[in-house]
Amino acid sequence: MDFLEMARSRYSVRDYKNRKVEPEKLEKILLAAHAAPTAANLQPVRLIVVQEEEGLKKIGKAANIYGAPLAVIVCAEHTKAWTRPFDHKKTVDIDASILTDHMMMEATELGLGSVWICYFKPDVIRQEFNLPDTLEPVNILAIGYAAGNPADPERHAVQRISLNELVRYENY
Ligand SMILES: Cc1cc2nc3c(=O)[nH]c(=O)nc-3n(C[C@H](O)[C@H](O)[C@H](O)COP(=O)(O)O)c2cc1C
Repeated sequence: MDFLEMARSRYSVRDYKNRKVEPEKLEKILLAAHAAPTAANLQPVRLIVVQEEEGLKKIGKAANIYGAPLAVIVCAEHTKAWTRPFDHKKTVDIDASILTDHMMMEATELGLGSVWICYFKPDVIRQEFNLPDTLEPVNILAIGYAAGNPADPERHAVQRISLNELVRYENY
């Protein structure tokens, strides 16, 4: 399967089988995160892997992870952030999201489902997982074996804005 086919086959999975993710697959997912680029290679990112029952319960206080057996909390370390000098924009969210996307696509390639979650209570995550003040939870990626029917890989024709609307050439 080429990358475009794989990207089209990925969908947000909100129903999971009661089956653990194998350690070899988790390792590959984490290696994909490790290979992700960050601004100026500053790597202002930290991952918290949660797969034990106690940890999953703690995440459940902050977010709905749809019964996934594995979740990765992707955090941004603000003290290490690259800042653009012209407008002081920090790129930590972008860095954290590139890692998240790498993991999501690796999970897809491994035949796993996933869903990217931002609808969570950051204060609860901070407290439950003892995050230092400088570490911000940015994304949660829930991963596992999908239950139910997969989404149609052709759905983007109707579920996304058109390429014409998305893309301008040379000028806005
Ligand atoms: C930044 C971001 C945040 C998201 N947050 C959530 C979330 O909190 N809960 C959820 O169920 N889905 C969440 N999603 C999944 C989107 O709703 C989903 O990707 C979108 O509707 C497109 O559907 P698809 O992933 O099946 O193609 C999020 C996706 C992104 C990229």
